[in-house]
Amino acid sequence: MSTNDKTTKYIALMAKAKEAAKYSYSPYSNFPVGAAILTKDGRIISGCNVENATYNGGSCAEKTALLKAVSEGIKEFEAIAVFCQKSKNCWPCGHCRQFLSEFSIDMDVIVEDENKSINVASLKELFPYSFSSKQLAKSD
Ligand code: THU
Repeated sequence: MSTNDKTTKYIALMAKAKEAAKYSYSPYSNFPVGAAILTKDGRIISGCNVENATYNGGSCAEKTALLKAVSEGIKEFEAIAVFCQKSKNCWPCGHCRQFLSEFSIDMDVIVEDENKSINVASLKELFPYSFSSKQLAKSD
């Protein structure tokens, strides 16, 4: 796939993340976030942040999208776009990086900058030396 094709695909994915942000339930932070995951077989699954009166019981947009995908039997991902209505270059939080890495450490992460252009980084770049099931393997 050419770089141009990839960029076109990721811009379309970002549009889905923006759409998802409209459904954000964020009355406590007033910080709407949307995410859209591109699966290895070409499907797009979106999610938004869903907060809760307990404050720590909510879900980030990335996690919502991932939970939706995994609970539908999808575990292989090519990319995720993240859109924060009130912030630019809004890379996933540490918890979401850990959550995403469980399934596809090779996926791309896409954010939008102040010029409405996309920036792309691999999850590996964003989350080097990650904790994974390898660490759980017993050596003795
Ligand atoms: N949030 C996300 O949805 N994704 C992130 O990567 C960072 C933060 C949400 C969580 C909370 O609902 C709001 O943004 C403020 O932190």
